[in-house]
Amino acid sequence: MKILIVNGPNLNLLGRREPGIYGNSSFDDYLKRLIERYPDVQLNYFQSNVEGHLIDEMQQVGFDFDGIVLNAGAYTHTSVALHDCIRAISCPVIEVHISNVHQREPFRHKSMISGACKGVICGFGLDSYRLAIEALMELKRQQA
Ligand code: DQA
Repeated sequence: MKILIVNGPNLNLLGRREPGIYGNSSFDDYLKRLIERYPDVQLNYFQSNVEGHLIDEMQQVGFDFDGIVLNAGAYTHTSVALHDCIRAISCPVIEVHISNVHQREPFRHKSMISGACKGVICGFGLDSYRLAIEALMELKRQQA
């Protein structure tokens, strides 16, 4: 099974960025643990602060991989282009957020991408990514 994890803007600073909200772990450390936990899953990772680069990467794998776990960061709340990209590709995309965006500022309550995604997981800290992987694995089992 092939899954791409995509992190959007400012998520390269995890571990240093607002640790009270996003925690102390860097994404690289967390990713190592995920890879150990799912040895049978090919887990690829991509991060960019540039909206178009996120789209390029998702288009690249979106017809071949079994799913994408997408934390689009602030682009979640603004990007019609990401919405269109998710609709254009054929693999399921799970929207994830580390924080519970609905407990935060009103501008984070609106997602431009949720309607295009298979589902949404938010508020479980970094464990949101693992829950999304589990959801994609279950989808794959249901298709078999
Ligand atoms: C975030 C929530 C977004 O509102 C914010 O812009 C982020 C991170 C999260 O993972 O909680 O960059 O997606």
